[in-house]
Amino acid sequence: MAIRQPIITVVGHVDHGKTTILDAIRSTAVASKEAGGITQKISFTSFPFAYLKEKCKDLLDSFKIKLEIPGFLFIDTPGHAAFTNLRKRGGALADMAILVIDINEGIMPQTEESIEILKANKIPFIVALNKIDSIAGWKKMSDNLKEDIEMQAAFTKKHFEDKFYRLLGSLSNYGFDSELFYRINDFTKQIALVPCSGKKGEGINELLVMLAGLSQRFLKGRLEVGKEAKGTVLEVKKDRDVLYLESILYDGHLKVNDTIVIGGLEKPFVTKIRALFEALPLAKGFKNVQNVSAAAGIRMQVPEAQQALPGMPFVCMKDIKSASEEVQKEITEAVKTDKEGIIVKADSLGSLEALLYLLKKNKIKIARAGIGDITKIDVMSATANLKEKPLDAIVLGFNVSISEEAKTEEKIKLLANEVIYKLIEDFEAWRVEKAKEIERGTLAELTMPCKIKVLKYVFRQSKPAIFGVKVEGGFLMKDVQLINENGETVDRVKNIQSQKKSVEKSKKGEEVAISMPNITYGRQVREGEVLYSNVNETEFKKLKESKKLLNSDEITILQEIASIKRKEKSTWGI
Ligand code: GTP
Ligand code: MG
Repeated sequence: MAIRQPIITVVGHVDHGKTTILDAIRSTAVASKEAGGITQKISFTSFPFAYLKEKCKDLLDSFKIKLEIPGFLFIDTPGHAAFTNLRKRGGALADMAILVIDINEGIMPQTEESIEILKANKIPFIVALNKIDSIAGWKKMSDNLKEDIEMQAAFTKKHFEDKFYRLLGSLSNYGFDSELFYRINDFTKQIALVPCSGKKGEGINELLVMLAGLSQRFLKGRLEVGKEAKGTVLEVKKDRDVLYLESILYDGHLKVNDTIVIGGLEKPFVTKIRALFEALPLAKGFKNVQNVSAAAGIRMQVPEAQQALPGMPFVCMKDIKSASEEVQKEITEAVKTDKEGIIVKADSLGSLEALLYLLKKNKIKIARAGIGDITKIDVMSATANLKEKPLDAIVLGFNVSISEEAKTEEKIKLLANEVIYKLIEDFEAWRVEKAKEIERGTLAELTMPCKIKVLKYVFRQSKPAIFGVKVEGGFLMKDVQLINENGETVDRVKNIQSQKKSVEKSKKGEEVAISMPNITYGRQVREGEVLYSNVNETEFKKLKESKKLLNSDEITILQEIASIKRKEKSTWGI
């Protein structure tokens, strides 16, 4: 039975060097004259082992690795989309992973996200501790990484070890026992850390040799090519007006004219492969082929390409009906929604599933889930919640953009983020604020605590008196009745003007002009005097009950008002 190459995903935080490491892997191979220049960066690179056998013979011997598998198929993932490419039916697309960590930065949010995905899917991985060349004083001393590390100047080595041990500690917090690759005796128990520099090429051979050893040890038996072709659509791409499905074939064989079933959010669709292209080794582009075997990066030209969504599984089976059922069953389960709730969008099936999983874990209901950017249609769906369920009047987007059109509807909250945990955090914070706002709305008919100071600016002495005030705390509302520090009723605020415009309310720190019909400035109110809103006893009790909705200024003012009132009646508000 044919053995396919393992699929290796390169994951990690944004800018930690995933693509650079893959570039280094490709270009070292180029240096061995096996391949031409790198013409194209694509998300997968097939890497045959012929090069490794020749160039890394000593390393392979020293780790007693005998190469039996044909090579690797690498998938490069952008730092913000660890989920996107990792999905296949029933598990993870990757057989193994390289977790890239910038040795200077250590574990960052997307590193954490990657670790959790690797853990959840039980994907074996090694850690590439990248950018060692940027450690102070680092110089390349040898082509052998072990010697290279050991021969660094004492202070550089100390820097290296400090960073290294800190990372070892962080990884153990995630439940991983890890160690420098050449100190490991049992690879089934410890995770190998390979220091490297994608930029300078140090450690890249060691990284490849470690991967080869580990995949032979752990993946044998898992790499036999099955009869049915199975794959995942990564992206719907346009090339000279023709749409292609850029995909990974992870099992079986495909040929031109094969009928395939591709999953969809609502239902699958059946289509025929018109043309097939296979990724050339070392990311040198694609070649037109009649058939292809797993594992391979491929482009398929199919008539219904525009229906396909990133992350969707596809299969090629004789029995189309059972193929459809098989493909769809899992999607339906993965993106199950509720009768009511929020609207969510993500860039691929994998990321959508991850988002839904976390939202469900937090007991958040989802009315609609889709793939793609946030559009006007999503906003309209959320609008349905405005009246009855304002806490659901939101659209969440993971790894997607918000279309300009969607932004025009101000009443619906739109939140998008590239970090899933941040997205959920922002969403929860929004809900807390929103709930407060709604509750505050129920206090609307009460007189709210407010304190103002009379300024020296007088625009009119009386009938009505118009003069300047400064809001010292709370909100000054139109129509509120004011009292002075002796508890005497002054008058009602008939109008508030801010920069010559009438306003309904004014907030702390603002200076505005107010008008009062029944007083004379200089008599009932004087410059420098402090006035309060006239909160009555019943209102005071209600406000006290809803204290959590008031800000600290409002609470202080409420206490001041109470002590004014109690001068007259000692049991006021008690
Ligand atoms: P995304 O795809 O955006 O998630 O980033 P990435 O992880 O693929 O990082 P990329 O390879 O694009 O590198 C990010 C930056 O780090 C670039 O400016 C690289 O030149 C730099 N860089 C990568 N590897 C090294 C390294 O080994 N040493 C140093 N000094 N810089 C590096
Ligand atoms: Mg990259």
